[in-house]
Amino acid sequence: MNNDTSLELLGGLTARQFLRDYWQKKPLLIRQAFPAFQNPLEPDELAGLALEDEIESRIVLEHGAQPWELRRGPFAEDTFSTLPERDWTLLVQAVDQFVPEVNSLLDHFRFLPTWRIDDVMVSYAAPGGGVGPHFDNYDVFLLQGHGHRTWRLGQMCTGDSPLLEHTDLRILADFDESQSFTLEPGDMLYLPPRLAHFGTADDECMTYSVGFRAPSATEVLTHFTDFLGQFIPDEERYSDADTTPAADPTQLQHDALARLKALVNKHMNDDHLLLTWFGQFMTEPRYPERVNGDALPPSELRQHLAEGALLVRNPSARLAWAEMDGYVTLFASGQSRLLEPRLRELLKQVCSADALHSDNLGEWLEDEEALMLLCQLVEQGSLGFAVDE
Ligand code: SIN
Ligand code: CO
Repeated sequence: MNNDTSLELLGGLTARQFLRDYWQKKPLLIRQAFPAFQNPLEPDELAGLALEDEIESRIVLEHGAQPWELRRGPFAEDTFSTLPERDWTLLVQAVDQFVPEVNSLLDHFRFLPTWRIDDVMVSYAAPGGGVGPHFDNYDVFLLQGHGHRTWRLGQMCTGDSPLLEHTDLRILADFDESQSFTLEPGDMLYLPPRLAHFGTADDECMTYSVGFRAPSATEVLTHFTDFLGQFIPDEERYSDADTTPAADPTQLQHDALARLKALVNKHMNDDHLLLTWFGQFMTEPRYPERVNGDALPPSELRQHLAEGALLVRNPSARLAWAEMDGYVTLFASGQSRLLEPRLRELLKQVCSADALHSDNLGEWLEDEEALMLLCQLVEQGSLGFAVDE
């Protein structure tokens, strides 16, 4: 995508302008980001997803057993008939993995790294419904799919911002409203992390939230050091060869700290391992049990493709690629493979083509290493054959 093309999705801004002026900084309301938007999911279909064991769902009732009652799914079929007329909302996580038309919404966000995208959460609200004033630690695009919702925006928050007690939800005790907008189908609101917001349904409404992943600094440090630990031999220790006699043997000297820092930095500065860890971490699937496949010999793969089969990405898989020190790496659903740079174009295709088939794979079908890679991805479950519905 050309970063200097004006995008309807961003209200006429270019990706470059949006990233410079709004992304992670300030909200942006985009009227008719999706003109003549066709709601891809009926409320009943969303309710159906909330009955499934493997799908994360929640209901928030403003006036339930307690103010802002949270109920966690999966729900029973009769749940919905017992809910009040107003002031509740159903939220279903990662609907992009279950509904292809919702997954397609993500194609519009390719001006951002795909590995930053977390999921599309879909909410259905009865009139007056909402989840209360709160903030999230990640960026979100809130696309109005059906009906009308009024969004009120408030202050920038931190982990110290006071929250209401006695609720399972992180509802802000204070909300300083600065702006409000009523969104209709096709309108979209971008919110940067930590900005307080409060959406209330004006009528029966559905909202699609495209949310992003950003590991916390604590997660990065704890997970990366755990990962590093696998590669560092036990005999590698704090060492103090060539030390000089201590003036006071009970004092921790600065030169000891400098030696320790050298040890830490040596490992922290290993770019190759940092990239490997990061790619694996960012492609970790939300539902790993949905990423699995069967072993497939290269000859069979070649034959299926020659007969017109299509290889497609599993919507629950996450893929990315990188290049460093003359090698390319493919990250697929939490695993990494270091490969020869001549496979670069194949990796790009695997990560972004709508489908792989004999036409766009071309000569790769005669390449042992390429076929082997595709077979591994099928066996892992990141790729699979398209099935006719
Ligand atoms: C909603 O869709 O009702 C809630 C989305 C949010 O505020 O993060
Ligand atoms: Co929110």
